[in-house]
Amino acid sequence: MMASQLFGNANVNLKILRERAFNLRWASVPEGVIPLTAADPDFPCAEPIRDAIQKFTSSGYFCYSPPEGYGFFKESISRFFKNKRNINYDPANILPVDSAAAGIFMTCQAFLKPGDEAIVFDPIDFLFRHSIEAIGAKAVPFAVPLSPDGLMNFQQLDLLIGPSTKMICVCNPLNPTGKVLNKAELQELANFAQKHNLIILSDEIWSDIVFSPAEFTSIAAISNDAFNRTITITGYSKSYGLAGLRVGAVMAPDPEKFKMILTSSGHESTVHGCNSLGQVAAAAALDECSDWLASFKEHLFAMRNLTVNELNQIPGITCPSPDGCYLVFPDIRKTGFTPVELQEKLLKEAKVAIVPGLPRWFGDMADGHIRLCFSTSEEILSEALFRIKACLS
Ligand SMILES: Cc1ncc(COP(=O)(O)O)c(C=O)c1O
Repeated sequence: MMASQLFGNANVNLKILRERAFNLRWASVPEGVIPLTAADPDFPCAEPIRDAIQKFTSSGYFCYSPPEGYGFFKESISRFFKNKRNINYDPANILPVDSAAAGIFMTCQAFLKPGDEAIVFDPIDFLFRHSIEAIGAKAVPFAVPLSPDGLMNFQQLDLLIGPSTKMICVCNPLNPTGKVLNKAELQELANFAQKHNLIILSDEIWSDIVFSPAEFTSIAAISNDAFNRTITITGYSKSYGLAGLRVGAVMAPDPEKFKMILTSSGHESTVHGCNSLGQVAAAAALDECSDWLASFKEHLFAMRNLTVNELNQIPGITCPSPDGCYLVFPDIRKTGFTPVELQEKLLKEAKVAIVPGLPRWFGDMADGHIRLCFSTSEEILSEALFRIKACLS
């Protein structure tokens, strides 16, 4: 199928989405409201993923899977990193996990203890602060530019270091701003981590959703030292629409760090674990869905341009164009509304749901902004943008 068919309105099943799409989306909003909220596509996953799931389920066996993950999936992930990211991860040091969120959580648990400090970008998805604070450690915010082409203030980083700083968390591409860190920026971060002997937690769940001419580089590919101190985390919710299957992966540079993560994962006791269907689905995604992903990106590129163009026509809104992620994070301060006031107005009058830039979701720097997700059909997105424009013009 062409991108226009795969990602057109005919391929958005609103009846099913209203039953199944939670987390602020179709099943969580009143009838008639268009949710441009949580970052989850409105499209069904690719055919090869559905085929792989059907093949696996037809046998009727859903036994315990290995605590360290299925070998075939670990091999697929390792191939992906070698071919697409120029990193050699030994499959033995790759841990399939039940979501990128869980990967962040268990990595913080493995490398931080109460009283430690971890530097996190601000703004950033709440998951980082949540995982750090859950173990009694402190999240120290590092203000990053709100516009994807803004410059990072690396001098600021040195002021954030203290005797208890153990980790720096990198989110690349960055949710919510859509910034994609370039090689020079990654090198600065890697040098900083080396100078202060920090673990780098690199969340790369968005790394497939990068718009040309921007290019993605993994921080672990920057140098041997960066590789040796980085825990890379990824997931399959964003690129392949598998959020409900709860599947992701954590990559460690060596057996010692792998063991620390495996221990904190709870997989060995079966308290937690990566479900078998998720691993089957994500392996099919990595091995068989590159054409589907290319078409998805083609569609998202057009949706990004449409969203940025329309929002910038609204008085008081400034919307930078993201280089990655299917999110925009416009500055709404000149509208005179706070993010929550605007959220309420748009919900009531335009029947469009958005995410306000609240500190509890994204950190203090997010104030004065809202986040919108554009991974839907052109028809639905155009209707939502039309309603927002009519409401605010
Ligand atoms: C940066 C980032 N990391 C992790 C996640 C969570 O991914 P998962 O569905 O695999 O838990 C998200 C979801 O929005 C995200 O934006």
